[in-house]
Amino acid sequence: MFAQTKRQIKIYTKFQKDIWTVEVDVGQIEQVLLNLYINAWQAMPGGGELYLETQNITLDENYVRPFKVKPGPYVKISVTDTGVGMDETTKQRIFEPFFTTKEGNRGTGLGLASAYGIIKNHGGIITVYSEKGRGTTFNIYLPASEKEAIKQEKLAEGVLKGGETILFVDDEEMIIKTGKELLETLGYKVLIAKSGKEVIEIYRAKNEQIDMVILDTVMPDIGGGEIYDMLKKINPDIKVLLSSGYSMNDEIKEILERGCDGFIQKPFTLKELSRKIRKILDKE
Ligand SMILES: Nc1ncnc2c1ncn2[C@@H]1O[C@H](COP(=O)(O)OP(=O)(O)OP(=O)(O)O)[C@@H](O)[C@H]1O
Ligand SMILES: [Mg+2]
Repeated sequence: MFAQTKRQIKIYTKFQKDIWTVEVDVGQIEQVLLNLYINAWQAMPGGGELYLETQNITLDENYVRPFKVKPGPYVKISVTDTGVGMDETTKQRIFEPFFTTKEGNRGTGLGLASAYGIIKNHGGIITVYSEKGRGTTFNIYLPASEKEAIKQEKLAEGVLKGGETILFVDDEEMIIKTGKELLETLGYKVLIAKSGKEVIEIYRAKNEQIDMVILDTVMPDIGGGEIYDMLKKINPDIKVLLSSGYSMNDEIKEILERGCDGFIQKPFTLKELSRKIRKILDKE
């Protein structure tokens, strides 16, 4: 999935106007959605399309009966990919803890099991439609609430905010989109670079206003280590957080030994990302 070749994933969104309110643990629901995005992304090694949709919907007695939840108004969230899909036997098992078809240590098989638990705890439903070779849709239904939405100022416990400017470097549209959103939620100003060449250009032009760089170690044009060295030449005091879809490996270790400030594995959670950033930016 992190091959050096360029892969196109197009994202289409269709969001309901005047969407109903739901009362949820934002951190948990974010975790559920993040896992669905990553699964979709991993299911499209040759690129594809991702559809994100929200909808107000009223579920009747008949529909909800097998799921043992209440009939009534729900907010439906759909995540559809045009990826590899699943056969019937796989589909039967995806919500089981530790069930994974991903080789090596690429998957723990806990993503959907925890998604299932979280949605159930919210009184909701999660369903899947999939056809081998064609793609997959996950639907989440969360019970709508009578309450008015309140703008959430308070972030989950342990999440640390900031206001600095961060240059976020990745070549995957989906990672860029979620990364930017996470960082902005935390209060940061975000600049984006999509290739090694672009990072260098942007950093050369704007390094005085950039407080930190979050750098994907696998870029299509220039290796992560090489990018790091070039950035360091521009500014010896640069602060860089490395990111990678792989867990710690020799390449990452080497870059860290050359002075790089930290490492975070993708997909990152809001809390983890927020803490790694503060740890680096607050370091003297
Ligand atoms: N969008 C999808 N397309 C095809 N198969 C999928 C999709 N989402 C999940 N699966 C299948 O369901 C399995 C379980 O998914 P789950 O998210 O629980 O674990 P994982 O992705 O393998 O590991 P982890 O989430 O811990 O990284 C996957 O290994 C895969 O076989
Ligand atoms: Mg997963």
